[in-house]
Formats: sequence, C-alpha cells, structure tokens
Amino acid sequence: MIKREIIEKILENCDIVELINSYLPLKKVGNYYRALCPFHHDTKPSFYVNPSQQLFHCFGCKESGNVIHFIMKYEKIGFLEAVKSLAEREGIEISLADEKEEKKNKEIYEVIKLASKFYQEQLFIYPQALNYLIKERKLSLTTIKEFQLGYAPVGNLLIKTLYKRGFSEELLIKSGLAYKKEKDIHEWFFNRIIFPIFNSRGKVIGFGGRVLDEKIEPKYLNSPETAIFKKGENLYGLYQTRNFLAENKPILVEGYFDLLSLFDKGIKNLVAPLGTGFTIDQARLLKKYSEEIIILFDGDNAGREATKRAAEIALKVGINPLIAFLPDNYDPDKYVKEKGVKELKKIICFPYDFIDFYLKISHPKTISEKRNILKKLGEIINFTCDSTLKELYLNKISEIFHIKKEQVLNIFKEKSFSVFNVEIKKLEDQIINILLVYPKYSSLIQEYPLEIFPEEIKELIKIIEDFKDKEKINTGLILEEIKNEEFKKKCASLSFSSEVLISNIKEKDFKRLLDKYFYEYLYNKLTSGESNENILRKIVEIKKNLIKGGK
Ligand code: GTP
Ligand code: MN
Repeated sequence: MIKREIIEKILENCDIVELINSYLPLKKVGNYYRALCPFHHDTKPSFYVNPSQQLFHCFGCKESGNVIHFIMKYEKIGFLEAVKSLAEREGIEISLADEKEEKKNKEIYEVIKLASKFYQEQLFIYPQALNYLIKERKLSLTTIKEFQLGYAPVGNLLIKTLYKRGFSEELLIKSGLAYKKEKDIHEWFFNRIIFPIFNSRGKVIGFGGRVLDEKIEPKYLNSPETAIFKKGENLYGLYQTRNFLAENKPILVEGYFDLLSLFDKGIKNLVAPLGTGFTIDQARLLKKYSEEIIILFDGDNAGREATKRAAEIALKVGINPLIAFLPDNYDPDKYVKEKGVKELKKIICFPYDFIDFYLKISHPKTISEKRNILKKLGEIINFTCDSTLKELYLNKISEIFHIKKEQVLNIFKEKSFSVFNVEIKKLEDQIINILLVYPKYSSLIQEYPLEIFPEEIKELIKIIEDFKDKEKINTGLILEEIKNEEFKKKCASLSFSSEVLISNIKEKDFKRLLDKYFYEYLYNKLTSGESNENILRKIVEIKKNLIKGGK
C-alpha cells in the first residue's frame, strides 16, 4: 500500500494544468483551461481543468477527478501504477515501508519470470511438446514465441534449477510454482504445455497448463492464486492483443487454444477468461478497451449457458454483449481449422444482440413461455448500469413482443437497484455518491434526523440546498463548492470511479439506501450499548420497511 502522505505530496507537487497539457493542448478561458475531452467523442471542447481546485471535469461525459484519476483513465492503468508513475515524474520517493512491501512481491515477480524462461527453454528440448503445438495444434513459431509458450517437464527440474539460484522453498510455494505435501516439495506443473499469464504491464504473474497426456486429469490447470495472481482479475491474451482491441471489438473466447489459434490466423482482437467464468472484474478491465464485445464460445450447451452468464456480466458493467454462434460441437479453434478464417469471419461479423440471442436459444411459443422470457430479459437488462443501453433494449423488447413500453417498464421495475453493502462506511460513500450525481434527491434526506449523518454528508446537503438554480446543479459544480480539500478529493474520486454514476437510480432506490443506512446507524448504537426503547422500536420499523421493499 502507498501511504497517504505520498498521495498528498503528489497532489501538492504535480500541477494538473502542466500534467494534462503534456497530453493534450489546453486553452485558457477565464479562470479555467479547456480542451476536447479525451474520454469521449467530443466535438466542441467540454473538458475543463480548474487550476485552483486542481481538478478536471468534462461536462459532456461527466468524467472528473484529480491528476491521479486523469493518468489512470488516460493511460488505462490502475491506481497504484498511476501513483507510481506520478511519483517518478515528480521525483518523489515512495516510502521505505512501501518498498519493503513491493520488494516482497518483487521476489515473486522475479522467480515467476525465471520459471517462465525455464519453461520456454524446455519447449525446445522436448520434441513431443513442440510437436504438439506445431503439428497437432497448428500454431506457428511466431505465435508460440509471442505468447512465450513453454513446457513443464517431469522430474522437479524447475525446483532444482531455482534452488541452485538461491531461491527459497518458501518463495517457490508463495509464487505458486510448487506445493508441499507432507514433507516433500512438488512442482505445481509437470508434463504440461505452459501458457504464461501476463498482467497489463507485460509481467508474467502466473501460468495455465494443459496436459500432453490426455489420460491425465485435469486437462487444464492454473497456478494457484498468489499475492500477484488473481484469476478473476486478469484476462488471458490481453497484454498481447491490447493494441488490437480499439479498432475491432474484443472477441471473448473460452479457451487458451481458441485464442492462440485465431490469433495465429490473423484474428487478433481476442481475450479469454482464465479457466473460470467471465467475472465482473474482467468485464471492468475489458470495458477500458471497449464498450461492446463479441462473445464467441463453444457451440454446445455448456458454451451457450456460459454465453448467457458472460453476457449478463457484460451488461452489468455497461458493456453491450454481441453474440456470435458456432454450429453444434465446434469451438472457435476447431471451426477455424476445418472451415477457414473466411467462414469464421462471416460468423463474427454478424453477431446477435442479447435479445435476439435469448429468443433464438429459447424460442418461446406459448403465452406463458413468452411471459417468462420477458421477465427474465427484464431482470437481466435491469442489471445494466448503462441507462442508454437499458433504454435501447427496452425499445427493442417493446417492438418484438408488441407490448407498450410502459408495460415492459413495469416488468423491469419488479427488481430494482439493491443495496449490497452493509458496512456503514460503504453506505455513506454510496449516499455521497448518489448525492453527487443526483443532487435533486437531497430533499429525501430531510425525512431523516440530520444528526445521523456524518459531517461530510451534511456539508454536501448544505451545498446542494444553497444552490439557487436547482436545475443546473451537476457534479462539477458541487465539487467546486466543497471547502474541505480532503473531502473534495474523496468526492472527485467517488464520482470518478463508481458505478452509481452511470446507473439509473430512482428516488425509491435512494430512499431504500437511506433506510438501510439509518438501520445500520441505529444498530451500531445498539451494539455500542446505547440501547433504549425508541431505538429498538425504530429499528424494527425500518427493518419491516426494508423487507417489504424486497431484496
Ligand atoms: P482442447 O482443445 O482440448 O485443448 O481444449 P479446449 O480449448 O477446447 O478446452 P475446453 O473447451 O474443454 O475448455 C475451455 C477452457 O476452459 C480451457 O482453455 C481452460 O481454460 C478451461 N478448462 C477446461 N477444462 C478445465 C479444467 O479441467 N480445469 C480448469 N481449471 N480449467 C479448465
Ligand atoms: Mn473448447
């Protein structure tokens, strides 16, 4: 973890105008600087930089934040990387404690890098392994090298090699390269083709491995999760394909070989989940590259079910999933080998949207089948945090089923925004977040005793109340009014990072959130010993309301 002081120092030292100006030309207008927004298709400059507040804000796409957020968004990197890059730029030392922490992981990175090199070398020592890739899987040497494929032989060779270089048993286990059973140490991978998995900066963080001997189970095995390898947060192939994802929509395939095989044939806009289903975190990662993806899974029942799940995940984060269908019993790898690239491209070029896909696989005929499908679709589409996407699908459903839009909306409404987080701090953040994006909802807070809210929320309410022209309030304007620097930064980052910003939150949803907050607040009082009849009664009352309102 980076210490708070470091972040503060960066924010103090790094001038936002100077920084942004080094990426895009800024023009001074009054007290502000202006440019075409780099984060959305902008025709007249709506991107503003406020030097006194050290914040940027786009009045078009509503993106806003400080220097760190700008770098994150612009360079498509994580918070930590952005902080590091800015620290370097400003010549700020990242503290010793952080270095220690980093160094710990540094060793894991180092040993993984060596292991990857080892596996790569072995591929050229064991002909059966190389032959498998070239003759059976028909991969070219270029692709093999590009993805740094390797081979893990039998005989604890890797362990021996790494011991010789002075790495400890403990580190090998911590890196997921080996495990201990009783007293003996064993290699995690043996007699497997190795697929190194890269993070977005191109460092190997873990491996996938496929058996050479089909009789061995499991067919595929991944590294265990380690301090640097989190399966659900990384996508296979992304590092190699990242530059192809902007011009063509990313194609999501199921398997390592699907990806490699298509890449080899020149279709390069690909990513694959890592043996698990497609996760929310992977979807968020992918959203940095594209707002639309093509799902191209296996043409069997399992593939179709997985497609449904992946599409739902995509919708949740606001990605529009398009679905390409393969005939029964084909996966992309097999299809491209048997039918060729041209045929595969035909399938990829005319994908179904989510609704058509659902109708195609379930082809409802009776009224009751139709009603069920409608409910299901409503439920799924309602999950999306992108209101435009929701509206577009709403229109489409209304047309297909010949049902008035209002009626479809009624079905959608049955399930709505739910409050997932019970932790009071998170609830507070959600409240702040919604107030920033939906200031008009601040009036709802008046139904609650003001003293239950922390100072920050009170300040926010006051700012919103003080606006004369309520119609014109927006996040940027509110941010300008916040006096407390700390809180301003927090708000900028909240409004910058959260899903709340783009989801369609209704008054009723906010009321539920407030109820939930009130409930937690009272409950905390109760558990900290401050109990009395009134609190108890109120708790029961709110709880009843919450239950009545559904999940
Ligand atoms: P082959 O063509 O036989 O190599 O496999 P495939 O690419 O057709 O694999 P399949 O469709 O069976 O599985 C697709 C993906 O799911 C694989 O690339 C793996 O990432 C993952 N997978 C498959 N089987 C297993 C398994 O037994 N364990 C784990 N962890 N992942 C698996
Ligand atoms: Mn497959």
